[in-house]
Amino acid sequence: MSDKTISYTPIILILLPLVLLSAIFFIPNSNSYLQLNFFSNSCQPPALPPQHLPESKPEFKLLIGIITVPEKTERRHIIRMAYALQKPIPYAQIDIRFVFCKLKTEEQKVFIAMEILRYRDIIILNCTENMNEGKTYTYFSSVPKMFQGEEQPYDYVMKADDDAYFRLDKLYDALRDKPRVDTYWGKGYPPLDQDNPPYLVGMGYALSWDLVQWIAESDFARNNTHGIEDINLAMWLNVAGKGKNRFNMREKMYDFHGVEAKDFPNYTIAVHVLKNDFTWMVTLKNFNVTGGLEPSPFYHL
Ligand SMILES: *[C@@H]1O[C@H](CO)[C@@H](O)[C@H](O)[C@H]1NC(C)=O
Ligand SMILES: *[C@@H]1O[C@H](CO)[C@@H](O)[C@H](O)[C@H]1NC(C)=O
Ligand SMILES: *[C@@H]1O[C@H](CO)[C@@H](O)[C@H](O)[C@H]1NC(C)=O
Ligand SMILES: *[C@@H]1O[C@H](CO)[C@@H](O)[C@H](O)[C@H]1NC(C)=O
Repeated sequence: MSDKTISYTPIILILLPLVLLSAIFFIPNSNSYLQLNFFSNSCQPPALPPQHLPESKPEFKLLIGIITVPEKTERRHIIRMAYALQKPIPYAQIDIRFVFCKLKTEEQKVFIAMEILRYRDIIILNCTENMNEGKTYTYFSSVPKMFQGEEQPYDYVMKADDDAYFRLDKLYDALRDKPRVDTYWGKGYPPLDQDNPPYLVGMGYALSWDLVQWIAESDFARNNTHGIEDINLAMWLNVAGKGKNRFNMREKMYDFHGVEAKDFPNYTIAVHVLKNDFTWMVTLKNFNVTGGLEPSPFYHL
């Protein structure tokens, strides 16, 4: 913060009640507003009404659900900041949500409720956390119901692991020009079949909205949720002859494998297996996430 900020304090004190008052008038009665707009503004602190004006209607709408567990509060905090500090992309609405099953403790119910009130970036599915099968199915099959009544709320829905970091501008560049139907986008597996991969790995993949709707309606998917979830999902698509627009990002999405600049090439879309603070730190540092920090008398790093 600079000295200038300090001299603005009286103005802020006068404006703050006005802003709060107008926020109260902007908070509408319907929940759908909360979900659609207020809920959308993931890159900004949600203290104010939505920023995007009608004329900046997004041309690309992506929901990223990070599959995680309620108790990983600290990791969630780091991930939330890591995405909030990425530059917003004009005409793109990228909503990042933490996804978990039902809460178990009274502590979680209060603390997570606070997070929801503050950040609006949490989705709680109707499942139990010790369930080791079917969370990905529950996620994809629940999303259409959450947005019931809305015509195609998203172009794509992604599932991501909580040990993966995506660079949103690169992700956008790689997905924006792809077909918006029957699309299955991510990193292919196995390595020997990269031209026509039978499945995309679990670090993170996107499905076009029609495929998400199909999963929600498919008896076959509902009947086959036992086993490795990301392989199951590929199997549903393959058996049904779906996901024909299949895009493999190959070396642009990789597992963490070193700490040097060369280990983080500029084409990187995602880094995976970020299992601890050290690997997150190295990754965020290499992608210059803290580059914008200005010198100040208030801190010395
Ligand atoms: C949650 O799932 C359980 C078990 O499948 C079901 O009985 C219950 O009705 C569901 N609750 C909601 C709110 O959908
Ligand atoms: C799904 O399972 C139900 C109950 O076991 C069965 O009746 C139905 O035929 C199955 N559907 C498919 C498409 O596998
Ligand atoms: C990415 O790096 C390569 C080689 O290090 C360089 O030739 C290229 O110009 C860079 N591209 C961008 C967009 O920075
Ligand atoms: C890191 O970010 C800062 C601020 O955004 C920028 O000035 C600097 O050039 C960046 N450094 C690199 C190596 O990209």
